[in-house]
Amino acid sequence: MIAAGAARLSYGARQGSATNRRETAMELFEVMRTTFSAREFTDDPVEDSTLYRLIDNARFASSGGNRQGWHVIVVRDRATREALVQAATPAAKLYSAQVRAGENPWNTIDPTAVDEATIAEARAPGALTEPLLEAPVLLLVCVDLRVVASVDRDLDRIGVISGGSVYPFVWNILLAARHEGLGGTLTTMPVAGEPELQALLGIPSHVAIAAVLPIGRPKKQLTKLRRKPVEEITSLEQWDGEPLRA
Ligand SMILES: Cc1cc2nc3c(=O)[nH]c(=O)nc-3n(C[C@H](O)[C@H](O)[C@H](O)COP(=O)(O)O)c2cc1C
Repeated sequence: MIAAGAARLSYGARQGSATNRRETAMELFEVMRTTFSAREFTDDPVEDSTLYRLIDNARFASSGGNRQGWHVIVVRDRATREALVQAATPAAKLYSAQVRAGENPWNTIDPTAVDEATIAEARAPGALTEPLLEAPVLLLVCVDLRVVASVDRDLDRIGVISGGSVYPFVWNILLAARHEGLGGTLTTMPVAGEPELQALLGIPSHVAIAAVLPIGRPKKQLTKLRRKPVEEITSLEQWDGEPLRA
C-alpha cells in the first residue's frame, strides 16, 4: 500500500512537473521567437531595480570555464551618450556605404570596393545612432579578456570564440527584457571607437566592450521576425548534406 501510494505520489509529481515544463517551454519559446531589435521607446523610465532583476537572471548565462568576465556599466548621462554616438558614427558611415555598394558590411573575408571619399560622404543611419541618445537607459556590457579562453586565437581568421564568453549573457539580458515587456537592441557600432570610450569611462585596456544595449519600453512590439527556416541553416553529417527535417 505504502509503496503503491508512494508510486502514485511520485507519478503525480512527475506528471505535474512535466506539465510545468511544457508551460515553461512554451513561454520561453514565445520570448525567444519575439525578441526583436527595439530601437524606439516610450518615455517610461527603466528603474535600477528593473535592471537589477534583468541582470540577476541574465547572469546565469554560460561562459568559457565559467569565468564570468562580464561587467555592465549603466549609462544615463547625456555626455556619455553623445560620446557613444561619436564613437559609433564612423563605423555606421562605413556600414551604410558598404550596404549601398551591395557588400556585407564590416566582414573580414571579402575586401571592400568602397573608397574613402564614398565613406566620408555617407550618412550614419539614424537607426544606428538615435537609440543611443533616446533610450531611457543604456547598458554597456564589457568583458575582461584576461579570463576569456580564446581557443581560436592561433587560427588564420578573425576570432569568434571570445565573444561566446559574453554574448550568451548579453542575449539573456535582452530575453529577460522581452519577458518583462521591455526591449532593446544589441548594438556594436560604438565599439569601433573603443579606446576613446575606455578612456572616458575608466575601462581598463584588457577589458573589451562587447555591446551597448539601449533598453526601454518599445513603442511597438514586433512579433513576426524574419528568420531563415531550419532547413536552410542545417545539414546532416556534411556541410552540403541533406537539411535537418522535422
Ligand atoms: C553582433 C551584433 C551586432 C549588432 N550591431 C548592431 C548595431 O550596431 N546597431 C544596431 O542598431 N543593431 C545592431 N544589431 C542588431 C541586428 O541588426 C538585429 O538583431 C537584426 O537586424 C535582426 O533584427 P530583428 O531582431 O528586429 O529582426 C546587432 C546584432 C548583433 C547580433
